Amino acid sequence: MSGNRNIVLVGFMGTGKSSVGRCLSKALNMTFTDMDDRIVERAGKPVSRIFAEEGEHAFRALEREVASELSRQSGLVIATGGGVVLNPANIRDFSATGFVVCLTATPETIIARLKDDTTRPLLRDGNKLESIRALLMARQPLYDAIPMQVRTSSLSPDAVAHLIAERYAAT
Ligand code: S3P
Repeated sequence: MSGNRNIVLVGFMGTGKSSVGRCLSKALNMTFTDMDDRIVERAGKPVSRIFAEEGEHAFRALEREVASELSRQSGLVIATGGGVVLNPANIRDFSATGFVVCLTATPETIIARLKDDTTRPLLRDGNKLESIRALLMARQPLYDAIPMQVRTSSLSPDAVAHLIAERYAAT
């Protein structure tokens, strides 16, 4: 029985967490929430300004607060930010009360999806391709540690959502 557990979408930037999350919330009639939006509301400024004015550590502290709060709610489809895996407490809390799924995509797909993006502070400086490769490599073990993995490169958001809904119902 799936009950009313949260569905928590984890994965690198550009793996489709927000678009899949919206599809899933419609399909399952659950409430969609995007962690970055909650953080932006709380800080009163966009993610890029939090990073620029207060530093990444301030963003991670807000991310931790929001993760802790959302993990205590139910019936949500949560799109996390790509760096949520950096603090093991986030994954521990989400896993305790929800169904955590890691979305993956090939570096080529991620690069294609993010090439025109200007909103992500970690991809702003220098060579975007190199930044993506370095971050992906550093974080790979953290993403790999999540038992439920879904490859998104060749699937539409609706198809990914359908797959996740099936697995959610089956566990
Ligand atoms: C980040 C990913 C972003 C956002 C912030 C940091 C990361 O979210 O939280 O820019 O560290 O990977 P998305 O994965 O939704 O782009």
